[in-house]
Amino acid sequence: MNINQVMVIGAGQMGAGIAQVCAQSGFHVLLYDKQTEALNHGVKRIHKFVHRACEKQKITEEQRDDTLLRIERAATIQDAAKADLVIEAVVENMDVKTAIFHELDQIAPAHTILASNTSSLSITEIAAATNRPDQVIGMHFMNPVPIMQLVEIIRAVQTSDGTYSIIEQMAKKLNKVPVTVQDFPGFVSNRILMPMINEAIYTLYEGIATVEDIDTSMKLGMNHPMGPLTLADFIGLDTCLYIMEVLHEGFSDSKYRPCPLLKQYVQAGWLGKKTGRGFYVYT
Ligand code: NAI
Repeated sequence: MNINQVMVIGAGQMGAGIAQVCAQSGFHVLLYDKQTEALNHGVKRIHKFVHRACEKQKITEEQRDDTLLRIERAATIQDAAKADLVIEAVVENMDVKTAIFHELDQIAPAHTILASNTSSLSITEIAAATNRPDQVIGMHFMNPVPIMQLVEIIRAVQTSDGTYSIIEQMAKKLNKVPVTVQDFPGFVSNRILMPMINEAIYTLYEGIATVEDIDTSMKLGMNHPMGPLTLADFIGLDTCLYIMEVLHEGFSDSKYRPCPLLKQYVQAGWLGKKTGRGFYVYT
């Protein structure tokens, strides 16, 4: 099967990045979000990123213009009828994702592969919401998508070998490095990363060090490019909390208990960089 038309559902930080990377690699992209404002914002972000890449001479003016021309706004989810591959990147919530996959399954042609960019949720459960579970797969990009090389490809128990190999090839065409992961909570990257971030939040909660000193410890002591609290703000504290809840519930192990301070920040609407306040304040 040849993938020509990609549809991305959700134009937030991840969806916009995925749309950009697909368009840069020559695919036609339909970008959809249920909120028009979010869709406009996503398209604006793509323009900013692509123009900056051109200014830095990472891409030519022709590549810039071609990339932008290949991205189209989808007015409705019904446009999935034109897609060979749909990549979903909406909020990290199982009910929302299964409802979308159920709907996409009704709309998309029989050959279409349905992929989710979920950070932690069960692809097996998402696949079971469709009548094509063998054509459902996880395609977990990293943030920021245009820069980060890794894509975790998650096989649901139902995913066919054919679907897997098409998506593995697709990831390579996007100039990414795919790794194969079985479908268990948090996959590989977030199973290791999120408990570290959660522990950093506990360290703050218990008054052991300041936000800045926790981040400096990990940056200068462990040679991490950014501290765990900065990274949490960057990922979104709501997303961090969802992932910790998935790990906690999925493994029934208290070592994954989300820190109460993380819960409190999310309740306050302090979701990190995207809302202007998390562990740091952004102006
Ligand atoms: P975000 O909050 O920036 O964007 C989500 C977008 O989905 C919003 O624009 C929202 O309007 C839209 N949306 C919500 N429900 C919808 C629906 N029913 N139909 C269409 N659009 C809908 O979230 P972000 O950070 O882009 O995350 C999206 C997904 O990617 C989540 O599953 C998350 O776990 C995953 N992810 C996030 C990473 C991160 O660093 N933020 C990294 C890798 C994966």
